[in-house]
Amino acid sequence: MNVALSPDLQTVTQVTHWTDRLFSFRVTRPKSLRFRSGEFVMIGLAGDNGKPILRAYSIASPAWDEELEFYSIKVPDGPLTSRLQHIEVGQPIILRPKPVGTLVHDALKPGKRLWFLATGTGFAPFASLLREPETWEKYETVVMMHTCREVGELDYGRRLVEDLRDDLLIGELIGDKLHYYPTTTREESPFMGRITDNLTSGKVFADLGLEGPLDPALDRAMVCGSLAFNKDVAAVLESFGLQEGSNSAPADYVIEKAFVGDGV
Ligand code: FAD
Ligand code: A2P
Repeated sequence: MNVALSPDLQTVTQVTHWTDRLFSFRVTRPKSLRFRSGEFVMIGLAGDNGKPILRAYSIASPAWDEELEFYSIKVPDGPLTSRLQHIEVGQPIILRPKPVGTLVHDALKPGKRLWFLATGTGFAPFASLLREPETWEKYETVVMMHTCREVGELDYGRRLVEDLRDDLLIGELIGDKLHYYPTTTREESPFMGRITDNLTSGKVFADLGLEGPLDPALDRAMVCGSLAFNKDVAAVLESFGLQEGSNSAPADYVIEKAFVGDGV
């Protein structure tokens, strides 16, 4: 395939490096691309042989945004990200405009309190959903739990939440509905611990002054992390009586992989 002639090429408009392992970037959005906040697409770059190297990426921007934003890991020897981490404004990237995914409002039954549960780059779909008006119209309370090993890895999410509160439009919709709970597990920070532990021990409820425990009549959840994380969070949610949903059968919680390949 001649990538230079592909109709799927978009142009990089902004790049921000957050740590030596994490960066975000924005690209132009194809006019015809419609997606639901929380979905993912395939993006990539041309390889040495001209064949595209494509990977799944959550769209981190909301459905109403003129551009598309992505939040990415830098895997030193990764076929895509060893190159993608060097992209600059003005350069082309490949984008296959076929959005899919389960982290969408349509896959959940109505509820009062929504939990966004993410580790690492699993924050990306929630960067989209936190900026989605539907999130704030549908729920009375939204809890964003984001856990990383180290403090610096929380920066992208922290900045996004700060900007959200200051945003004229979304800030007003959010009011006092948003509870942000960033934690670390391997470096000291104000709040510590794994999401699974903080949910089962009740620590997150105590720290945020929320009523606990999780209640299937009230609580809905969206989960995005490693396979091991997703499996363990699902077990916690099920232990409180929540049931997994999908686009075709909406229920109490939904799960998406943040990446594949941690040996689980
Ligand atoms: P790969 O060969 O794809 O991966 C090499 C190894 O790096 C993997 O085996 C794994 O151990 C590790 N790894 C890969 N991705 C990650 C990650 N995100 N965090 C921690 N370790 C990782 N990645 C993003 O950075 N942002 C996203 O929004 C994103 N959304 C995804 C959505 C879905 C549904 C899936 C399945 C994956 C998503 N990924 C995302 C992962 C992404 O598809 C690639 O794996 C990643 O960009 C690395 O590509 P690579 O070719 O450099 O290395
Ligand atoms: P921990 O440091 O205790 O392993 P990773 O970089 O390995 O994907 O982990 C990202 C974050 O997710 C870390 O804070 C890690 O905590 C946490 N984590 C990893 N696996 C799980 C799991 N199975 N259940 C809950 N939290 C997890």
